[in-house]
Amino acid sequence: MLEERIERYRDYIEADPYSWAGRWAEACAPAGGEAFHEVRLDLGCGKGSFTVEAARREPDALFLGMDSEPICIAYAAQRGFESGLPNVIFVPGTGMRIREMFNPGELGVIYLNFPTPFPRKKDSKGRLVNLERLMDYRRVLCDGGEVRLRTDSQPLFDFALTQVPLAGYELTWQSRDARGERPRDPMSEYEERLGAQGALVNAYIAVPGPPPSNPVQTAEMSLSAYIPDDLSSFDAYAPHGMQGTIQNLRNRAAKDGGDWSRGITL
Ligand SMILES: C[S@@+](CC[C@H](N)C(=O)[O-])C[C@H]1O[C@@H](n2cnc3c(N)ncnc32)[C@H](O)[C@@H]1O
Repeated sequence: MLEERIERYRDYIEADPYSWAGRWAEACAPAGGEAFHEVRLDLGCGKGSFTVEAARREPDALFLGMDSEPICIAYAAQRGFESGLPNVIFVPGTGMRIREMFNPGELGVIYLNFPTPFPRKKDSKGRLVNLERLMDYRRVLCDGGEVRLRTDSQPLFDFALTQVPLAGYELTWQSRDARGERPRDPMSEYEERLGAQGALVNAYIAVPGPPPSNPVQTAEMSLSAYIPDDLSSFDAYAPHGMQGTIQNLRNRAAKDGGDWSRGITL
């Protein structure tokens, strides 16, 4: 039962995270110990493997895993409990309200590991890589703070790249095969699962530069706009959540003699 699990692992859950803005590093420090040097957020943490492993590697930083699904928080808190680590905690909440949960400059890193792609234009407001979200993140990141994205989805990644300059960020690193380039980075559940199916990891690290004076969305919002004409790039692996769309495009291409784009709207 969800309630039982939440109760059992309650020491690793902060149920009222919006009340701790500005105090995370001090409030979560072990009794009698110093405040953490840095606070990092794993946004959309799922079942928390990445959060816990990242916390194990960096004991001076506090790692917060946030997810909008209570069941994910319950499983993640179990992992936190089993790790026994003092520098990881899980919070129920939404990335849409990040500015209510943290004070300006409070976060060192925001991780976006395999964020839900919301491929359709009508759902695109839910994407955690959007201009609006990046503008929120820049308010809560410290000087030199970073947004670190990883995704199996080439269309989502190409869309995300359009948002970076709109929100006045600069890329300090990007890769189409992040696991190949940085094999020792901690792995999330999705990376492990989708990697086993053949996914390569697209990734960037972005840091806020000077704020844009008038940020305006100019990108195509449907992820279908980021699917290449040559569908053979998806022969080995189709991105999670877009398999149906890609199959429809293949069927349409077969029917129309190659022009897949006719009549497809996401
Ligand atoms: C595809 S899963 C990835 C989970 C984990 N990061 C991983 O890589 O294994 C996306 C997660 O993001 C969460 N999520 C989606 N939208 C969110 C939002 N606005 N705020 C917080 N979490 C969100 C979902 O509940 C889900 O657990």
